[in-house]
Amino acid sequence: MDLSPRRLGLKTRTADAHHALDTMIGGFDTAENYARYLDGMARFRLPVEAWLATQPLPAGFEDWHPGLYAEELLADLDDLGLAVPADLPPFVLPEGSGVIGLHYVLEGSALGARLLAKRAQALGFTDVRGARHLFAQARNFSNWRAFSDRMENVCVYDETAAAAWADTAFDYARNAFESSMNAHRLYRRPVELRP
Ligand code: HEM
Repeated sequence: MDLSPRRLGLKTRTADAHHALDTMIGGFDTAENYARYLDGMARFRLPVEAWLATQPLPAGFEDWHPGLYAEELLADLDDLGLAVPADLPPFVLPEGSGVIGLHYVLEGSALGARLLAKRAQALGFTDVRGARHLFAQARNFSNWRAFSDRMENVCVYDETAAAAWADTAFDYARNAFESSMNAHRLYRRPVELRP
């Protein structure tokens, strides 16, 4: 499939970071592994979404809304009896007007969410218990299409800045999943699936 040029640029630039993340998260084939993934996802998305909620949308995106899943993530953590991660490092912004690159990473992850939702379901986590954020993302696929159409067509697009912001988003995600793994290695809680 031929990808549009701006998407191809960001996808190529972040391919190694995505692969590293994918490998680190792994296949989550047990409830404990899924819990660790969920904790990492919360460490990544909660601070980034909180920051985004305070920001204006980039020029040309005014009629579009980013997919925000904090509410579902918090409910998923609660379903599994996991604490909301605290004392998270701030999301440090890179230079330049490249917030489109951050939106690319957040919206693009809906593509992978379709696969992850199936894996979660195989463990018994669903759209009403434990994996709400994944199913909500997977269902919101049209948002990705609406985003990527605009990304290709807006007049104001700084490719270098967008790539730097996409890299920063992946770095922040990697740190979030890494710290989740370290926390779980130090302190393994049994995963509780509330009825
Ligand atoms: C185990 C974890 C993950 C798996 C297995 C996975 C898998 C995938 C797959 C299969 C796609 C491509 C789908 C398609 O082209 O139809 C994709 C796309 C994408 N994922 Fe992930 N993903 C994972 C985690 C993440 C995370 C945590 C992020 C964000 C930090 C992310 C960001 C993206 C982005 C930006 C794209 C779009 C790439 C493009 O332009 O095609 N992914 N993912």
